[in-house]
Amino acid sequence: MSKSILVTSALPYANGPIHIGHLVEYIQTDIWVRFQKMCGNDCIYICADDAHGTPIMLRAQQEGISPEELIAKVNKEHQQDFSDFLIEFDNYHSTHSEENKKHATTIYSRLKENGHITTKTVTDLFDPKENVFLPDRFVKGECPKCHAKDQYGDNCEVCGATYTPADLINPYSSVSGATPIQKENLHYFFKLNDFKEMLQQWINQENLQPEITNKLKEWFESGLNDWDISRDAPYFGFEIPDAPGKYFYVWLDAPVGYMASLQQYCDRTGKSFESYWNKDSEAEVYHFIGKDIAYFHMLFWPAMLHGANYRIPTAVFCHGFLTVDGAKMSKSRGTFIKARTYLDHLQPEYIRYYFAAKLGPGVNDLDLNLDDFQQRVNSDVVGKLVNIASRCSGFITKKYDSKLTASFNDECTHAFDLAVEKNNQIKTYYEARKYSEAMRVIMALADIANQIIDAHKPWERIKEDQFKTEVHQVCSFGLNMFSLLIGYLKPVLPDLASKSESFLNIEFTWNSLYDGKPMPEDHIINKFKPLITRIEQESIDKMIEDSKMDTTPKASDPINDEITFDDFAKLDFRVAKIIKAEHVEGADKLLQLTLDLGEPTGGVQKNVFAGIKSAYSPEEVEGRLTVVVANLAPRKMRFGMSEGMVLAAGPGDKDIFLLQPDSGAKPGMRVK
Ligand code: MSP
Ligand code: ZN
Repeated sequence: MSKSILVTSALPYANGPIHIGHLVEYIQTDIWVRFQKMCGNDCIYICADDAHGTPIMLRAQQEGISPEELIAKVNKEHQQDFSDFLIEFDNYHSTHSEENKKHATTIYSRLKENGHITTKTVTDLFDPKENVFLPDRFVKGECPKCHAKDQYGDNCEVCGATYTPADLINPYSSVSGATPIQKENLHYFFKLNDFKEMLQQWINQENLQPEITNKLKEWFESGLNDWDISRDAPYFGFEIPDAPGKYFYVWLDAPVGYMASLQQYCDRTGKSFESYWNKDSEAEVYHFIGKDIAYFHMLFWPAMLHGANYRIPTAVFCHGFLTVDGAKMSKSRGTFIKARTYLDHLQPEYIRYYFAAKLGPGVNDLDLNLDDFQQRVNSDVVGKLVNIASRCSGFITKKYDSKLTASFNDECTHAFDLAVEKNNQIKTYYEARKYSEAMRVIMALADIANQIIDAHKPWERIKEDQFKTEVHQVCSFGLNMFSLLIGYLKPVLPDLASKSESFLNIEFTWNSLYDGKPMPEDHIINKFKPLITRIEQESIDKMIEDSKMDTTPKASDPINDEITFDDFAKLDFRVAKIIKAEHVEGADKLLQLTLDLGEPTGGVQKNVFAGIKSAYSPEEVEGRLTVVVANLAPRKMRFGMSEGMVLAAGPGDKDIFLLQPDSGAKPGMRVK
């Protein structure tokens, strides 16, 4: 029977790009949704940008644009990234939308009517000059731990310490510069404890992950405190009805975004919103999230829904965090890889397969080991799977009029039946999010197919007439196995599957895989074209190098170890003339410069690679003067030797300052 299923992934914040850590979640969800659709279920996949809150306001300020402009720009980028990773939403919206305002307000009003909202007086920091309350991030001052100046009120970007604004030394308001004072302020609270019984039941339901159940019980025992849901202007969000100047805290309207995006979908398609969210709904609702946001989804959200007279989710599925080469993603190591940077160098299906091969139903962290990634994808997808098709198809096309036979010998029949039999097991694994198990079973079947093909050596026997039937059978068997296995992998590798469908002249649905019959006698296949290429080491290297050059500001970027004055004095700065500047083949950010260090140095010339392409074209810099560290040891880079370093400074992108005023400076002059 076809089921009605609503699936969501967490709504990514609109203040930054999608990175490969996020992708664990969206790929995990997308595979599940594609699987459900392939099984014939009426499944829809909904998401949106999470567009409210202080960090987004600050980010817009930094970029000198309005929050609306920022979130519109980011929304477009996010959608493009997702779509290029073959993540197929049925609807993608934003929490800064009319639909969300309507639903958030409705939920809040119902909670209020039902007595679940209360107010309390809290002491907040206040800017006496501007007459506004200050969120933590709007108070700056000296870090109480390392004494770095101009740090935010919640954490220090230099030493990483976390604290409250009251701990800052010499705090000031980043709005006016005035010293903040403490002032009593009214806040709105959601009374979570009203939902104790209902949450108790929810926690004890069977389809929760055991690790999460334990965590929930811990939270439960430490008490269900009232949740502060109001923030004061200036805030980017929705104003609370009947409370001018007060806004919903971003986490109040964020999950409501799931409803808002569904609303937009229903308005567009004529489906019924109520059939998903009403109390008596028969639809299933699943949220896929990272373990860091379990508290919001497992306590606040079900309680809010229940208190506002909506149904609660069927289940919430949590996953762990992505590490790269065993460590947290890091900008300096080049492992903080943006979705876009990955796509500049690698195909989306590589990482879809890799994540699938590593993902289970638990909340364990997941490591992207770059060597293992390359080896695994090359050996499984290219070496085992696609290899079956590439070694069998040529003979069928050339020697058998592109026609397959359906009569196999016993060995092939047996192997094919075994692969068909595994159908149910694979299906169960997908359903239970045990993707790694599913991949293991599929690849074991690919091994069997390859062994049988190897044993019959079609590439030798094709030359002798007596083997004509045998080769036809074994190659037809190979292509049938390939077809079945690619069918099983369709949720993970949708592009490869659709290319294979055209090559094989068929369409995979779960039912067609299930009927267990090979393609009919004389089924005609099309000419084989390479379906996927191997991952080259060079592509991975380039991706890491580009990620290192990313200039998005880091949350925490401590100052390097101190150097002595003597260390510094060793640096020999010289004026140099850029006599040649060229693009570097294959490098997005580099220019290759030939520098002339002038007569005082005896006419030394140096070849230098500089990451300045975003700010300068070769024509702009040729013939101009710059400053170079002249005594730096040469260093081998991917594109050649770099024999010095030009001094360029600035935040990056277009703002890199490289050139010296030409007045009076001569190549070779020391710079002091
Ligand atoms: N905006 C909130 C979610 C609101 S849902 C109503 C948020 N956004 S986020 O952009 O920080 O994260 C979006 C999702 O990506 C979260 O589920 C988060 O757990 C997940 N991940 C973010 N970084 C991740 C890794 N490094 N690894 C795995 N998942 C990660 O939280
Ligand atoms: Zn500090």
